Amino acid sequence: MTQVQQPGAVAPANEEAVRAWDTVLYERWKKNRKVFVGALDEVTEKSFELYPPPEGGSCIDIGCGFGDTTRRMAEIVGPEGFALGTDSSPRFVEDARLEAAEAGAENVAFEAADAQTADWDQDFDYAFSRMGTQFFAAPVPAMRAIRNSLKPGGRHCKVCWRRKDESPFWAETEQVVQQFLSRPEEYEADTCGPGPFSLGNPETCRGILEAAGFDEVELHQFDFDYYMGGDMDEAIEALLAIGPGAELIRLNGEYGESRRPEISEALVDHYSAWQRPDGTVFGRGSVWIVGATNPA
Ligand SMILES: C[S@@+](CC[C@H](N)C(=O)[O-])C[C@H]1O[C@@H](n2cnc3c(N)ncnc32)[C@H](O)[C@@H]1O
Repeated sequence: MTQVQQPGAVAPANEEAVRAWDTVLYERWKKNRKVFVGALDEVTEKSFELYPPPEGGSCIDIGCGFGDTTRRMAEIVGPEGFALGTDSSPRFVEDARLEAAEAGAENVAFEAADAQTADWDQDFDYAFSRMGTQFFAAPVPAMRAIRNSLKPGGRHCKVCWRRKDESPFWAETEQVVQQFLSRPEEYEADTCGPGPFSLGNPETCRGILEAAGFDEVELHQFDFDYYMGGDMDEAIEALLAIGPGAELIRLNGEYGESRRPEISEALVDHYSAWQRPDGTVFGRGSVWIVGATNPA
């Protein structure tokens, strides 16, 4: 397995988001990983069923986070194949590399790269991303760089959230938090970039890919039971760690934090109806599973 490379240049317009992903969001993601990653297992398998990484093929994973999907692709393509996980956050990349080494995965490697400025060789048969392409300040150049990493005829597959209102657990959490907080006109906190729902509009999602030169763009709606937590405490912690409700608290700084206990209580009331007899909490989520090809 190769070592982590030094991070390449980050596009100036992405600096704030990349900093957020390497600091506060990285920490929250790590703490709530069981929910954020576990909840997407079904979606991931559905994506690989619709658009299978080719056996013996070479794959790239964009915004790979802890590298769960990179390792899964490496398993699917088998020992003759290879998977490269890339992420703009050196801390995610470092964790991904260590975990892959601990797992003894030999056909994977990881590197830090802002997809918007990356200049990958045209080496890959398959480019995947699970929730990693919604945060670019300039999505068309970023998607063009991803397309340019694919051999002619190579396949792109990605997962992104549909509009916020299509996933009740996101929309209703925001509504509850809005009873206590509104978005301040000025704030100091870094934001995550255009945001998790920036590709929710199907025309936007398709248009960016076509403008970046992709062909055969297909969007599949996939609705699923989103695992919110093993118990109510875990669910509330995760809901207020990332996503629209968490963002409102973060942007409101100390005042936002001071309202967290009341917000948590209101969320417990709101979501108690969603709790199952074994204590787990599930909501409904909705994503696009997107397929596209680099023209031959
Ligand atoms: C929502 S997380 C998804 C992580 C992982 N794919 C998963 O599903 O567990 C978004 C990821 O995109 C990465 N990211 C954000 N902006 C990026 C950029 N400009 N280039 C590459 N990765 C980026 C973040 O660091 C983060 O790891």
